[in-house]
Amino acid sequence: MIDFKSDFPLILSPMEAITNKPFRKICKRYGADILITEFISSDALLREVEQSIVKMSFDEEERPLGIQIFGNNEESLTLATKIAEREKPDFIDINWGCPVKKIAGKGCGSGILNDIPRMVKLTETVVKATNIPVTVKTRLGYTENSKPIVEVAERLQDVGIQAISIHGRTRSQMYKGQADWTLIGEVKNNQRMIIPVFGNGDIDSAEKVIEYKNRYGVDGILIGRASIGNPFIFQQAKELLENKTPTPISIEEKVMVCKEHFEGLIALRGEKNAIFEMRKNYSGYFKGLRDFKPFRLQLVSTTNQTEIHEIFNRILEAY
Ligand SMILES: Cc1cc2nc3c(=O)[nH]c(=O)nc-3n(C[C@H](O)[C@H](O)[C@H](O)COP(=O)(O)O)c2cc1C
Repeated sequence: MIDFKSDFPLILSPMEAITNKPFRKICKRYGADILITEFISSDALLREVEQSIVKMSFDEEERPLGIQIFGNNEESLTLATKIAEREKPDFIDINWGCPVKKIAGKGCGSGILNDIPRMVKLTETVVKATNIPVTVKTRLGYTENSKPIVEVAERLQDVGIQAISIHGRTRSQMYKGQADWTLIGEVKNNQRMIIPVFGNGDIDSAEKVIEYKNRYGVDGILIGRASIGNPFIFQQAKELLENKTPTPISIEEKVMVCKEHFEGLIALRGEKNAIFEMRKNYSGYFKGLRDFKPFRLQLVSTTNQTEIHEIFNRILEAY
């Protein structure tokens, strides 16, 4: 069984259309300790929507891995839990954090933060539906005036979740402003909390992992946006955690990993989708290269696989 209490895990924060299998595997190799799938709609799972089934699949080498589900009613969450359980993930993570209108507006994701008793009840339903550990990822609260996360975390612990990940923003904040970690720290310091408390939000460098670990005392940290096109952040944070100097990543290595990512996406999603989806990653992979803009423009405008490889080669020649 997964030990969430093991040495300060670095967790790849789940991201729709980003943390798919090829990218997860790369992050794992660079030191991510725990992986989580993209969020999967429980209703879509019940309807056996092909894409949702694909999103659940993972390879043994990715363990420990959680399948993340979202939903808004007992029946679909229970059935989705049973379906996810068949894949034998190490844990099932409930998404009570997504702020996007089409999700939260239906009472899924962070929409549930409007109705804490219901959040607790639905979470209990999922816990009771499976023998696999259940975790929750959520936010501080629904609005600036209501941030009940300390009480929420206790109540979720009481119904049997095994760990909680907290993004230091409210639903109404979406992704604006800064993540407020003080409340995450309060949850962690609450004497009643026994389960691991993982912090999330705005960790944009390996140094910040160490700084926030020390400042807020959390049991682990999730890294989201800063890992896009930058799986190396896990390695660098790991090195800092071990009091080592982070190894610089050469351009050769970046191009190699970027190619591997692209090929993996082609295998998973087909050439056309992969070319399109890769576009979100290039800024991350090639951040900081001087006069990179023309290369980036070429990468995000071509629809041809061979041409993309040629651009990669030109990048290698130029830097
Ligand atoms: C493109 C994108 C997709 C996301 N998809 C998910 C998701 O499927 N499940 C989830 O729990 N959070 C999702 N999130 C939220 C992230 O996991 C994370 O909580 C948030 O980005 C804050 O962390 P960061 O500042 O390290 O990025 C997503 C965020 C982004 C930017």
